[in-house]
Amino acid sequence: MKINSEISAIVTGGASGLGEATARVLAAKGAKVTLFDLNEERGQKVAGEIGGAFAKVNVADEASVDAGFALAREKHGQERIMINCAGIGWAAKTAGRNRKTGEIKAHPIQDFQLVININLVGTFMCLSKSAAGMMTLDPLGDSGRGVIVNTASVAAQDGQIGQVAYSASKGGIVGMTLPIARDLAREGIRCNVILPGFFRHPDL
Ligand SMILES: NC(=O)c1ccc[n+]([C@@H]2O[C@H](COP(=O)([O-])OP(=O)(O)OC[C@H]3O[C@@H](n4cnc5c(N)ncnc54)[C@H](O)[C@@H]3O)[C@@H](O)[C@H]2O)c1
Repeated sequence: MKINSEISAIVTGGASGLGEATARVLAAKGAKVTLFDLNEERGQKVAGEIGGAFAKVNVADEASVDAGFALAREKHGQERIMINCAGIGWAAKTAGRNRKTGEIKAHPIQDFQLVININLVGTFMCLSKSAAGMMTLDPLGDSGRGVIVNTASVAAQDGQIGQVAYSASKGGIVGMTLPIARDLAREGIRCNVILPGFFRHPDL
């Protein structure tokens, strides 16, 4: 898709790291960018610097996501680009032994559910609502109606010790992306996933 000032984009996790860098590139190419993030201070700052908009959104909360889309679409019109970068890491074993006390504990299930909820369910919630909005637009010739990019991780395929929740969430993102792409192909909406290895940025 050719990016210009007619194109509206949403980037989740846009206040930091990969999302922030992506938002800056999209804005530099002329797109109208809205950041969805929990970090209001950083999000407002980045949005101000790129001439974009910020919505304080928890991607795991449907009312919050709906409010974010309403704000973004009121300011910039229906988005044609949806980039899902929001995510959290986690470190806990399936079952672990405390080295000092010898205590044995199973992975707290609420921690596992939290990671799945933010990384996997949050990604799906944002992209499915975005796709429904994109379907109301006319296609832009061969570029179709819109583009969705999901962020998984190399941990989807090669999770390390302590990454069980994170790997499960990222494996879910990889697994759902192909059926999503098939669901949306006839509507002219592309959906892809990236699996980055470890990368540094100013906050890491
Ligand atoms: N950094 C790496 O080495 C690496 C490697 C592979 C994959 N990834 C993935 O890339 C993405 C970005 O990573 P990063 O290192 O730039 O992360 P980061 O922590 O710098 O940025 C993530 C952003 O997501 C936001 N966020 C977290 N939970 C949220 C929620 N519930 N709702 C809305 N926003 C929320 C945070 O506030 C933060 O601004 C993540 O999905 C991460 O899992 C990162």
